[in-house]
Amino acid sequence: MQLTALGIGAIMGAGIFSTIGSASAGGSNHLGAGPAIILSFILTAIACAFAALCYAEFAAMVPISGSAYTYAYATLGEVVAWIIGWDLILEYAVGNVAVAISWAGYFRELVAGFGFVIPNWLATDYRTALESARKVAELQTQGGDLTSLSIAVQRAAEAYTQAPQVLGFPVVFNLPAFLIVMGITWVLVRGIRESAMLTGALTILNISILIFFCVVGSRYVDSANWVPFAPNGWAGISGAAAIIFFAYIGFDAVSTAAEETRDPQRNMPIGMIASLVICTVIYIAVAIVLTGMVSWRQLGTAEPLATAFALLNINWARWIIALGAVCATTGVLLVFQLGQPRIFFSMARDGLLPQWAAKVHPKHQTPHVTTILTGVVVAVFAGIANINEIVELTNIGTLFAFVLVSLGIIILRRTNPAHPRPFKTPLVPWVPLAAVLSCTYLMIQLPWVTWVRFVVWLAVGIVFYYIYGYRHSHLRQRT
Ligand code: ALA
Repeated sequence: MQLTALGIGAIMGAGIFSTIGSASAGGSNHLGAGPAIILSFILTAIACAFAALCYAEFAAMVPISGSAYTYAYATLGEVVAWIIGWDLILEYAVGNVAVAISWAGYFRELVAGFGFVIPNWLATDYRTALESARKVAELQTQGGDLTSLSIAVQRAAEAYTQAPQVLGFPVVFNLPAFLIVMGITWVLVRGIRESAMLTGALTILNISILIFFCVVGSRYVDSANWVPFAPNGWAGISGAAAIIFFAYIGFDAVSTAAEETRDPQRNMPIGMIASLVICTVIYIAVAIVLTGMVSWRQLGTAEPLATAFALLNINWARWIIALGAVCATTGVLLVFQLGQPRIFFSMARDGLLPQWAAKVHPKHQTPHVTTILTGVVVAVFAGIANINEIVELTNIGTLFAFVLVSLGIIILRRTNPAHPRPFKTPLVPWVPLAAVLSCTYLMIQLPWVTWVRFVVWLAVGIVFYYIYGYRHSHLRQRT
């Protein structure tokens, strides 16, 4: 129960509350699935289930908190471990940039309910505002109808025109996203214990809010919104599957609790698979209701569940959803903001990062240097980045980690067959191969610009390894 709650706490967040919007409505780089987003959710859940079975074998074999980096270090060697560790930065730190932007979108809705309006220019990023303002200007010169643009574009364009100018340059910055990350960083430096009770309470709240959404929203469903079901065909469905993958990230975080788990060989796979199944069922229900409430074209905002209620003028429900989303995304921010410094910490302990990264605060006993560094970088990017691009980069990085972990299972069965395996992935090599193929398929659906960013990121990591890690590695120094 506790592992499942931990999994759900890490999984449910910006994906279901935000990414579902751009996945169904489409973005600048990809087509939307429309109501067929329901199928995208199923497709992605299958890929994640294969990967979860592989993670479970590793988690039971190397029951040490540290996620895929630690598994790889213990079993596949330092170079692969470094690549995975470097890649996990995309899942944890970059992923949290997107979660913080989503948090800010809902926080703005929430405080608006109390009559406090955060201006548009303090609630979006500069580039989105600029591009939206250009779209509006273009439409105006053509004499088009501005209401044909989505609410998201209209608001961002307003941000650009209303922003105060400094030296002729409009100031557009996502202040709430910046501040929440700094606040969480402060809490984490002072030390926080993941309490099973708090996680459990948050999880129940998350699930209740999404059920609330389905129950109230279903009264406003108009089946005309489901037609056409798949406006962009398979291209829309598979593209959206790669985007909505973000909503599933986090089940792998269950594996970080391996050291504190009783009977991990039984409980680890149950925790991962159960949290995945529960989330999938709820996600599909939310998708059915959301796409029935309003036209899928209107959903491309950072807070689509609240937008749906706003478009129907049901403001009380909109605020309840905003409150739930703020809680859910805060939970995800905590899990990943807690995880990233610990991965850096492990890498520094192995000599792959400078030793100052492995410092522990004398009073609070937390890895404060890496916590603050992660916090500042994530906060700044949360203030200036576009959520859709960040989600795509997070997804490609996380999918790649899943591919490596799944390949690792096949390799280790051959190279180290005698190692005790309290939990065995079923049907090896078929299940890991299915994970590799399905995750690779999802990666291929992501836009080429995401691929370029990803390859550059990995290249920088490899250069960094040979400049620093290779020379300072403790393993290498011992041998
Ligand atoms: N799955 C997590 C979320 O949706 C990352 O926020």
